[in-house]
Amino acid sequence: MARRKKIYEGKAKILYEGPEPGTIVQYFKDDATAYNAQKKAVIEGKGVLNNRLSEFFMTGLGQIGVPTHFIRRLNMREQLVRSVEIIPLEVIVRNYAAGTMSQRLGLEEGTQLPRPIVEYCYKDDSLGDPLVTEEHIAAFGWASQQDMDDILSLALRVNDFMSGLLLGVGIRLIDFKIEVGRVFEGDFQRLVIADEISPDSCRLWDIETGAKLDKDVFRRDLGNLADAYTEVATRLGVMPKNATPITKPTLIN
Ligand code: CDP
Repeated sequence: MARRKKIYEGKAKILYEGPEPGTIVQYFKDDATAYNAQKKAVIEGKGVLNNRLSEFFMTGLGQIGVPTHFIRRLNMREQLVRSVEIIPLEVIVRNYAAGTMSQRLGLEEGTQLPRPIVEYCYKDDSLGDPLVTEEHIAAFGWASQQDMDDILSLALRVNDFMSGLLLGVGIRLIDFKIEVGRVFEGDFQRLVIADEISPDSCRLWDIETGAKLDKDVFRRDLGNLADAYTEVATRLGVMPKNATPITKPTLIN
């Protein structure tokens, strides 16, 4: 096969030009990063798990009518997606306080919020993805008012779908991040869920024990990340038991 053109390499994924115009191949790496890439490791099997889990969540969303960029999984580490124009926002939905919200507001992690709270961060690693308000978004023209209405509705639909799905397998969805992209169809544009939905971008706690089954396992050195992700995949029936090699993370700096 001819060497594909690399479009972009991020912290956890590489994007290649897809086989047809308007498509992209998303390759899931085993690299894990936290605290804006200050902490790094290679976790064998993580990319395979996230490829499968993101496929599973995106496919399910498509089935309930939430549009996503996902087209199909190509192999263990790659999926074909629609090329989109990414809106430069990280859209965070929170059901329980954790992470930066707990720090900012002095709320104990795990405190249930009165209702789901949606936050927006400006996507810029060099600034550490700062929290912004809808005023900033409108003033700087990152998204229109119509876009913001659509983003809020998409984010809440993803939250309901993911919360229900995970509750069914004994997992509490504490919070998650999505990215949204524009696709152009003739004169029209519409917004779709892009990037990935995986335990890298969610907080997932076991309902019975409170055990963390997400990237906090890596961020906070709580155990083996691949084991945690395998547990999520197994409960959801996405991966058969023992399908991924369980190995210790290799620290690369
Ligand atoms: O994760 P951290 O404590 O730095 O930030 P947060 O604002 O508490 O993150 C809320 C949720 O969004 C968590 O599930 C994070 O994993 C996710 N997130 C992400 O996937 N990527 C980011 N750049 C920031 C947050």
